[in-house]
Formats: sequence, structure tokens, C-alpha cells
Amino acid sequence: MISHLLLGVLPSVAFGAQLAYSPPQALMAFAQAADDCIFPANFEVRDFGGISNSTNGTTLGSLDFSFTSTETEVTTLCHYNSTSEPSVPPGRTPRYKCEDDDVEFIWENDKTRLTVIERVCPGSDGVPDYEAAGSVRIPLTCKPMGECATNATVNNGKFTNISPAATFSV
Ligand SMILES: *[C@@H]1O[C@H](CO)[C@@H](O)[C@H](O)[C@H]1NC(C)=O
Ligand SMILES: *[C@@H]1O[C@H](CO)[C@@H](O)[C@H](O)[C@H]1NC(C)=O
Ligand SMILES: *[C@@H]1O[C@H](CO)[C@@H](O)[C@H](O)[C@H]1NC(C)=O
Ligand SMILES: *[C@@H]1O[C@H](CO)[C@@H](O)[C@H](O)[C@H]1NC(C)=O
Repeated sequence: MISHLLLGVLPSVAFGAQLAYSPPQALMAFAQAADDCIFPANFEVRDFGGISNSTNGTTLGSLDFSFTSTETEVTTLCHYNSTSEPSVPPGRTPRYKCEDDDVEFIWENDKTRLTVIERVCPGSDGVPDYEAAGSVRIPLTCKPMGECATNATVNNGKFTNISPAATFSV
């Protein structure tokens, strides 16, 4: 039933890109009725750079990268430093907004893993009602208290989840 629905609907809303997640049924129905609801499948992280703030080079005090969402064609720059304010309340995993504030990210030092979250599928009020998320590991070599290098200019990732957008006022 579900797979039948997916086969029938996905090519038109995601241009045939293969999704690594199953959109909930309510979202499938919404996407069929909306003309600007595109399910993101793939993303690219380009030119990831960071500066380590520890003598063993394992923590980043600042980082920058460029994000591109392949299917929705959203591209934005993302930055983090010690003055960045999380976009979620205290007690939740800190997320930071990119320059396009429909895109947020989470950096996990211990896993050198970057998670990106993209808000998609605006409702009639123009505010995106869903968020897609995916992670990519970024191998880094940092100089103590210095620059971090990664061996790839482009890191490719897949969105693996979509859920109703969290709405916070912080
Ligand atoms: C590296 O240093 C940081 C802070 O100085 C410390 O929290 C972390 O445990 C150290 N990691 C390793 C692998 O030594
Ligand atoms: C390094 O930067 C991170 C992120 O800003 C911060 O959480 C951490 O306390 C800093 N560590 C040191 C040793 O300054
Ligand atoms: C942090 O980044 C902001 C803008 O991205 C910049 O204005 C600010 O000077 C930076 N702060 C530090 C401590 O580097
Ligand atoms: C990049 O480095 C990581 C670990 O340092 C390694 O596993 C990976 O194969 C390297 N990738 C390329 C494209 O060289």
C-alpha cells in the first residue's frame, strides 16, 4: 500500500531522485496538492574549514562551509564561532542557522559529523512545515590550536529523515 503510493507519487515531487526516507502519509498528500513541495534527497557540503581551539586538535572553535541541497536548489553559507547563538532552546542539541535561515546545522566534534536540517514544503502561510535532515562525516586533520584540513572539497550526503518542523521561539 505504502510502496504503491510512493511509486505513484515520488517521480513528480522529487524528480525521480531516490529518497533514503519515507515521507509520512500526511506529507505525501500535502505534497500532491502543493506545487512547491519538493522532497530533498541529496546535499553537498563544500569547502568545509575549521579552526581548532584545543592543543590536541580535536575540538573546533569555529567552522565554515557551503551547503547545497540538490533537489530544492537551495545554496547557502554556514558559519559557527564562539559568539554564535543556537536556534533552539537550552537543553536541546544546539543547532545553528545558516545565512538562509531555512537551513540549520549541528556539528559533533567527537564524531566529526555534520548534520544539516533543511525546512521544506511551505504551507499556505509560506512557512515551511517539514524539515529534512541528514548527516555526513567530515574527516579532519587539525593543527593544535590551528587550521583543520579535510581531504575532500565536496562531501556528499543524503537526507535520511523528514518530520514536522520544530517551531521554537528563542
Ligand atoms: C583533547 O582536548 C580536549 C580539551 O582540551 C579534551 O576535552 C579531549 O578529551 C582531548 N581529547 C583527546 C583525544 O585527548
Ligand atoms: C572550543 O570551542 C567550543 C565551541 O565554541 C567550545 O564549546 C569549547 O569550550 C572550546 N574549548 C576550548 C578549550 O576553548
Ligand atoms: C563570529 O562570526 C561573526 C559573523 O559570522 C563575526 O562578526 C564575529 O566577529 C565572529 N566572532 C569571533 C569571536 O570570531
Ligand atoms: C580522506 O581521509 C579519510 C580518513 O583520514 C579516509 O578514510 C578517506 O579515504 C580519505 N578520502 C579520500 C578521498 O582521500
